Amino acid sequence: MSDNSALVTGAGSGLGQATARRLARSGRYVVLFDRDGEAAARTAKELGDNAVAVGGDALVDADVETALDAATAVAPLRAVVLCAGGAPRSERTVTRDGTPHDPDLFRRVLQLNVETTFNVLRLAAARMAAQEPALSGERGSVVLTSSIAAYEGQVGQLAYAASKGAIVSMTLTAARDLAAAGIRVNTIAPGTMHTAAWDGYDDIRKALEAKVPFPPRLGDPDEFAALAEHMVTNGYVNGTVVRLDGAIRFEPK
Ligand SMILES: NC(=O)c1ccc[n+]([C@@H]2O[C@H](COP(=O)([O-])OP(=O)(O)OC[C@H]3O[C@@H](n4cnc5c(N)ncnc54)[C@H](O)[C@@H]3O)[C@@H](O)[C@H]2O)c1
Repeated sequence: MSDNSALVTGAGSGLGQATARRLARSGRYVVLFDRDGEAAARTAKELGDNAVAVGGDALVDADVETALDAATAVAPLRAVVLCAGGAPRSERTVTRDGTPHDPDLFRRVLQLNVETTFNVLRLAAARMAAQEPALSGERGSVVLTSSIAAYEGQVGQLAYAASKGAIVSMTLTAARDLAAAGIRVNTIAPGTMHTAAWDGYDDIRKALEAKVPFPPRLGDPDEFAALAEHMVTNGYVNGTVVRLDGAIRFEPK
């Protein structure tokens, strides 16, 4: 029986899926939360008794509470890793034909990345704050997912860069807000990771890999998971953002 539980959002795919796998294999009871409930359920099944899937939307409080209930029913919730989000179509501030950026697209991207993060962060932190602390005094740890586009947004990434920059800016403030409750908050800013989204795009992927100083390849989702696990277990890492990018700095295009 696991003595602590973890919640991973966006766990049906990509970075969240890799993180859920790693946290379950290191002995935690993991709740895999995703609006694609079937994808989360497939991964949870593979992980056996250490995992359960909860289908739901990070923007819907009742769905998030259901996931938190599933975690705390088994063991204290000590780790929350927020990977729900994404990068929808890109658009320039002013398009080539002179049209200003679509404000609805901008709002949708902020909702997809910032509001989902904000909503689960606040609800999960409240739940953790109500728990008894561990012997160290810590009640839990939260990992957010930004992107290096927060620092080097490329042409067409106005909305995405704004959403990922917001997550960078939330990190220290949330860590300060939650310090009294013994909850740490950190963020990972990945470069380009080799998720299933690259299947069938070998040529573009190889061109991109050649631009990564070292190692000259995309990041492995398990390398993201390993850093998330480190942030969860190292009690002195707090309020910080770590780039995970093989030293690449995105070019303008
Ligand atoms: N993959 C990369 O190269 C990369 C690089 C930098 C940053 N990121 C960021 O990492 C995060 C995860 O990326 P990924 O590549 O694993 O993406 P992904 O599309 O493979 O997985 C994201 C998951 O989040 C879920 N999701 C989205 N909105 C949700 C919501 N409102 N409620 C519940 N679930 C929701 C989706 O269903 C999906 O399963 C994203 O925020 C992305 O911007 C990814």
